[in-house]
Amino acid sequence: MNMEWIKNIEDEALKEIENTKTEQELLLVKSKYLGDKGKITLGIKGIKDLDPSLRRDVGYLLNEAKRKIKKAISEKKFVEEEEFFDETLPPIMPSFGKLHPITKIMNEVVSLFVQLGFSISEGPEIELIEYNFDALNIPPSHPARDMHDTFYVDDKWLLRTHTSPVQIRVMKEKKPPIRIIAPGRVYRRDSDISHSPMFHQVEGLLVDHNISFSNLKGILSFFLQEMFGHDAEIRFRPSYFPFTEPSSEVDIGCILCSGKGCRTCKNTGWLEILGAGMVDPEVFKYVGIDSEKYTGFAFGLGIERIAMLKYGISDIRLFFENDWRFLTQF
Ligand code: PHE
Repeated sequence: MNMEWIKNIEDEALKEIENTKTEQELLLVKSKYLGDKGKITLGIKGIKDLDPSLRRDVGYLLNEAKRKIKKAISEKKFVEEEEFFDETLPPIMPSFGKLHPITKIMNEVVSLFVQLGFSISEGPEIELIEYNFDALNIPPSHPARDMHDTFYVDDKWLLRTHTSPVQIRVMKEKKPPIRIIAPGRVYRRDSDISHSPMFHQVEGLLVDHNISFSNLKGILSFFLQEMFGHDAEIRFRPSYFPFTEPSSEVDIGCILCSGKGCRTCKNTGWLEILGAGMVDPEVFKYVGIDSEKYTGFAFGLGIERIAMLKYGISDIRLFFENDWRFLTQF
């Protein structure tokens, strides 16, 4: 063991440390030089056998070598494998929001009526019981109140069960001619495959001189053919609403089975799509419009119903579960 030998061991160790590629290799190098039987360790142990005149310098050099090797080991960093990056790949695009299918149908319906000269009115979802029922000729004892499965807020307010109270608000505000549609949310205590406790309606109201049932038929026929195609079959069926007289329900030929009869149309070949009629003189009386001078028609249609038919969806609840897989299909 001489000075040169020590220097060589040190160089050799530093070189090996530099060349290691893994933690594992580094540990092996460490034990080769600094372990119990490591070269440096053995050298230090051998100092006592040396000629006393050499011990000091040799000891110093060995300790220096040990210090440098330890330092090199602790400072050793392994270069991480560089991640593969292909700059020719197209970027990952952010996903864009889309309109909800109900919003799309709503917009479509509203824009068709706007083309016909209707303007948009809105009313509150928390509505006066009086406007939702009494003003529409549905007195407290009227069986129609039960049919509506109402959410009452207190003895004055409720969640509106239809958009018809907007008719009252509009007619109380302004005098004829009136030509409005009122889109919005309505609420009923009902939930199954074809009922949702919250759903959407669009109300229509037109009041002027000499408005007749044929005007109503003309407007609704135009609307339904624009909505469902010009071959869509349409039928007006006599019906009853307390706030219209005469009243009618309008059906379209089932677009799922082309009128042959299926589960959706309950084998009738027809699907009810809206309620309509001539404004009842009792309603005009409530809002102070002279029913000798003016006549009018009103209609109300369910947006979910139309969306289900147009998109072929059999469960209304799908619209409100906010399942991304469902919503991105439209
Ligand atoms: N409001 C009625 C309903 O919800 C629909 C309707 C509106 C009927 C206007 C006639 C006139 O069932």
